[in-house]
Amino acid sequence: MLKIAIITGSTRPGRNNEQVARWVLSQAQTREDAEYSLLDIQDFNLPLLDEPLPAGYNQYKNGHTKAWSRAVAPFDGYVLVTPEYNHAPSAAIKNALDYLSVEWANKAVGFVGYGSAGGVRAVEHLRQVAGELQLADVRAQVQLSLFTDFENFSAFKPHDMKLDDLHAMLDQLLAWAGALKPLREKAESAEASEAEQLLNA
Ligand SMILES: Cc1cc2nc3c(=O)[nH]c(=O)nc-3n(C[C@H](O)[C@H](O)[C@H](O)COP(=O)(O)O)c2cc1C
Repeated sequence: MLKIAIITGSTRPGRNNEQVARWVLSQAQTREDAEYSLLDIQDFNLPLLDEPLPAGYNQYKNGHTKAWSRAVAPFDGYVLVTPEYNHAPSAAIKNALDYLSVEWANKAVGFVGYGSAGGVRAVEHLRQVAGELQLADVRAQVQLSLFTDFENFSAFKPHDMKLDDLHAMLDQLLAWAGALKPLREKAESAEASEAEQLLNA
């Protein structure tokens, strides 16, 4: 079964993010077509990127990076739940993405955005970042409005049609996460045979 992580995108005290991420998780778990889990970036206490080498070197120095890497690596796809801050995603979610590289590559990603304009500008930024990380971004996305999907901008009460949007996004996410799996397996077996050759040399 494919494994999908729903990743939170805010560490702000009083954040709306957790309500949205938990809604995504609970709705996704009704599908029984993949194993869905929540990864809360708040639990990893990631400081602003403090690794000496770029993530592409895959030589992490810090315990928090290694813990984040171990948490992210096992999944086949991700749902990023992002707020919009100043027409962009939160610094917290960008920072969490920047920490890693190979863990994201050749996997699929879908987006749930929220804000006064449905988080669309935040998601557009994240699509650019996803391209560089070799994360295949699916077209369907969930746009949640602070005006119509929250009461008093804080109590999450999504409009019924947002559920259809969520399932449409998850349908695409699972299709691509599954389609990319053989590619990852091929890359992993090539790495393993390279390592074996080095050992036998
Ligand atoms: C620093 C900051 C900048 C924001 N800028 C925008 C913005 O540009 N567009 C928008 O739609 N909402 C904006 N908002 C509103 C947030 O999307 C809204 O407060 C949301 O609940 C924030 O997510 P969080 O509660 O999970 O941290 C901003 C909020 C903050 C704190």
